[in-house]
Amino acid sequence: MTAEEAKKAIEQLSEKITYYNHKYYQESISEISDYEFDQLLEKLIKLEEQFPEYRYPDSPSQRVGGTITKEFETVYHTYPMLSLSNTYSEEDLTEFDQRVAKALPDQEYEYLCELKFDGVAISLRYENGLLNLAATRGDGVRGDDITANARTIRSLPLRVKADNLPSTFEVRGEAFMPRLVFDELNRERKAAGEALLANPRNTTSGTLKMQDSSQVAQRKLDCYIYSLASEGMNIQTHEGAIKLLERWGFQVSPTYQKCRTLEEVFAYINTWEEKRLTLPLDTDGIVIKVNSTQQQKILGSTAKSPRWAIAYKYKTQSASTILHNITYQVGRTGAVTPVANLEPVLLAGTVVKRASLHNANEIARLDVRFEDTVFVEKGGEIIPKITGVDVSKRLPLSPPVQFPTHCPECNTALVRREGEAVHFCPNQQGCPPQIKGRIEHFIQRNAMNIDSIGKETVAQLYENGLVKNVADLYQLSYDKIFALEGFKEQATRNVLEGVETSKQIPFNRVLFALGIRYVGRSVAEKLADHFKNIDALAEATHEELIEVPEIGERIAQSVLEFFADPANHQLINELKEAGLQFSLQIPEQTPENQILSGKAFVVSGVFEQFSREEIKDKIKMHGGKVLSSVSGKLDYLLAGTNMGPAKRKKAESLGVEIISEQDFLAMIA
Ligand code: IVH
Repeated sequence: MTAEEAKKAIEQLSEKITYYNHKYYQESISEISDYEFDQLLEKLIKLEEQFPEYRYPDSPSQRVGGTITKEFETVYHTYPMLSLSNTYSEEDLTEFDQRVAKALPDQEYEYLCELKFDGVAISLRYENGLLNLAATRGDGVRGDDITANARTIRSLPLRVKADNLPSTFEVRGEAFMPRLVFDELNRERKAAGEALLANPRNTTSGTLKMQDSSQVAQRKLDCYIYSLASEGMNIQTHEGAIKLLERWGFQVSPTYQKCRTLEEVFAYINTWEEKRLTLPLDTDGIVIKVNSTQQQKILGSTAKSPRWAIAYKYKTQSASTILHNITYQVGRTGAVTPVANLEPVLLAGTVVKRASLHNANEIARLDVRFEDTVFVEKGGEIIPKITGVDVSKRLPLSPPVQFPTHCPECNTALVRREGEAVHFCPNQQGCPPQIKGRIEHFIQRNAMNIDSIGKETVAQLYENGLVKNVADLYQLSYDKIFALEGFKEQATRNVLEGVETSKQIPFNRVLFALGIRYVGRSVAEKLADHFKNIDALAEATHEELIEVPEIGERIAQSVLEFFADPANHQLINELKEAGLQFSLQIPEQTPENQILSGKAFVVSGVFEQFSREEIKDKIKMHGGKVLSSVSGKLDYLLAGTNMGPAKRKKAESLGVEIISEQDFLAMIA
């Protein structure tokens, strides 16, 4: 393909992808399947890799991330990011309305009501239509530059095309993780034996600060935009601003409503109290804003919050019920989780029968006892939690709960490691739920994807003595399966076929399937990328493990423990013999040339064609070194826009040459 052809193909593909993306997010129309969409994106990424000169700053390929940010740069907000004052009662709201009326004597005014989205506020700056800076709120005056991560949010336009677009403008909104995405993520974590994430809001906040933007992309964050800030635009009302934002292609939640009176505001509050639970994201109240921008100016702001807006927070939904008893569930990793069995009670639209008690510490902290009246609350979590006990209703002489000393499934003495809250059953090779759990984990979609075997079949195979570890799956024969209850010819063949096909699953997923504690999907990917094969991983020392990006003490320790167990080596050998993939099939990357050999660079600011991390990679690929701070050792300061003035000054005083992105590209051309 010639460069000219590639340019054309890249532009056409980008346009197509942007179009489908827009249809999907702005109009909820899927004109093509997810698979076809991913294929287009993949094609674009491949072409851009071949012809990086045509990788445009608004390319939809940015959605899949790939930038590593070691440290987020601090950026100042053009306009401070204020917060809202909160109210919890109709009286407070009435007082707010009176204050507004007083500040606007003899004037008519109206409100625009919106839901209060429970996510993370972000600010986005567009220059000449291009998204070129995304920042967290921080302390309101300055926040962190999270541009690479924000670009992965598919509903966020990377380029805005419209007539009369101001050359620079800022929009603000709430980044969030849709509840379905959050639940799925926690299901995966549970399957990997990882600690569950507390709620979508904290997860969003953590995700926006992840160093690897390709991981952020996998987390499928979303965003609702709720304000436009720009000087010199003649916008009369907040409603006008959000309608304009919608036209520009931003995703605005369609739940806003104009209210002419306080009564209409109360009606809006009532309407959404229950209905908000059907929305794809968590909301914790509503925001009432004076609609006219002119009147907003008159009302002004305090140092913390505008006087023209207020948040009304819904009370957390809570109910009281009786705790009848506690059962103890043993997971794949042997962790024993206490679960409270409750008298069924209606809470936030669903009947609640069970609540997690997490561990022995939580039981002790709550001092919850059998037949106690307890309070349950539903926040963003999957299962409701017990927040307290009504001690006044306690039965006399009711004894404290004793955490079991032995496994409820196999009667092995439980252990609790120093500093850990969780009790474990150490009988890994003999405790039935652990064995079955490991097999269920192994066959799941994200691991070996043997979907012809379900949970019931696992139980059947185990109870009939056919499978007691995952390697046994590869020894199953037609006759053995056919002999099981309910298995006819087709079902038997499906199982065998599923097992056979799984032998092609790539190494990173096999590694995840092994179920090493704390080695979830993305950690497995990191380890596979780094060590390339299982033998290198098995021999890795603690130091070598923690050198891998995002691998900390806890994971390193768990990997070492896994490979210290001879039973696991035996298992891996059997799986190897069965023909599973235990090494990566990726060719080594070789440096392009050594043109920058011996040269040291500091890279700072925002660049046009490449992300900061891509530029750093290019330096290394050409034999150069990347330093983190400006010093006498430096040869070049590679400066993008928005670079801090202090860095520039220091470089100048040390006589370090300051070069632009173009200069740099010319150097390596
Ligand atoms: S307007 C001056 N509208 O609430 C502040 N904020 O406490 C203007 N939030 O940091 C914010 N939904 O993260 C506004 N519809 C909405 C909102 C909303 C959620 C959050 C936002 C802000 C916090 C203020």
